[in-house]
Amino acid sequence: MRRPLLAASFGGSFTGHIWHRDQPILGSRRDRYMLEWLRARADVLLYGAGTVRVDRRRIRFTFPDLRSHYAERGGGSVPPLAVVATRADFDWEDPFWTTPTDKTLFLLGEARTEGIPGHVQVITDVPDLPGVLDRLGALGHSRVLYEGGGRLYASLCRLDLVDELFYTVTPWLMGSDAAPVTARPLPPQRYTLVSATTADQEVFLRYRTPSGRVWTTCAVPG
Ligand SMILES: NC(=O)c1ccc[n+]([C@@H]2O[C@H](COP(=O)([O-])OP(=O)(O)OC[C@H]3O[C@@H](n4cnc5c(N)ncnc54)[C@H](OP(=O)(O)O)[C@@H]3O)[C@@H](O)[C@H]2O)c1
Repeated sequence: MRRPLLAASFGGSFTGHIWHRDQPILGSRRDRYMLEWLRARADVLLYGAGTVRVDRRRIRFTFPDLRSHYAERGGGSVPPLAVVATRADFDWEDPFWTTPTDKTLFLLGEARTEGIPGHVQVITDVPDLPGVLDRLGALGHSRVLYEGGGRLYASLCRLDLVDELFYTVTPWLMGSDAAPVTARPLPPQRYTLVSATTADQEVFLRYRTPSGRVWTTCAVPG
């Protein structure tokens, strides 16, 4: 079985710093549309535990056309959610965990599983990140959208698991060591620019990684 396709989506400063918990999300309505456009084409949304612990947002569609697009593909209100962690220390009352869709927690290592609510499917027999993607594929997901954050992204890159990157460059100067796009040192990788569109002072970049496959044949909305 082929490993599912994986695209990552980030937004942030032209300096390469992405939003983090101490900063408001400064992307435009168009940036929001882009994220939801990607969601509407995904089979599952993947997150690092760090992002889920701090962002605490319900995952939803706010644009009716994209909600309809996803529903017409046979989906529910939003794609299923998957989280990668080594510790199950989440606030299960967070809007993220009460999002009305299937939720899967991949616990890598010897994590304790007490206290995890029954509506969260827990997977403990997957040893590593390639195994996470293989299991998502076995669950029937062929297109994974990774929504952050930077630490897990760096690990995914190091293992050559990312196909495409969608990055919104916004006109805001920001700086924080807490959330660069890749929060860990990486050997340089030359990505290929697939498209660059501009609107509202923002640049919407789509890159393919050195070994990347085409995540979607659709061009990003102009
Ligand atoms: N601008 C944007 O587009 C955007 C998007 C998403 C997030 N963010 C920001 O990014 C920040 C969170 O990102 P983050 O980098 O701190 O955390 P993260 O990448 O979301 O999650 C890292 C966690 O993933 C788990 N993990 C399991 N296996 C791993 C592996 N092989 N490599 C790395 N992590 C692994 C670990 O969980 P355990 O702790 O359980 O061990 C680790 O602490 C927040 O401030 C958030 O607001 C911004």
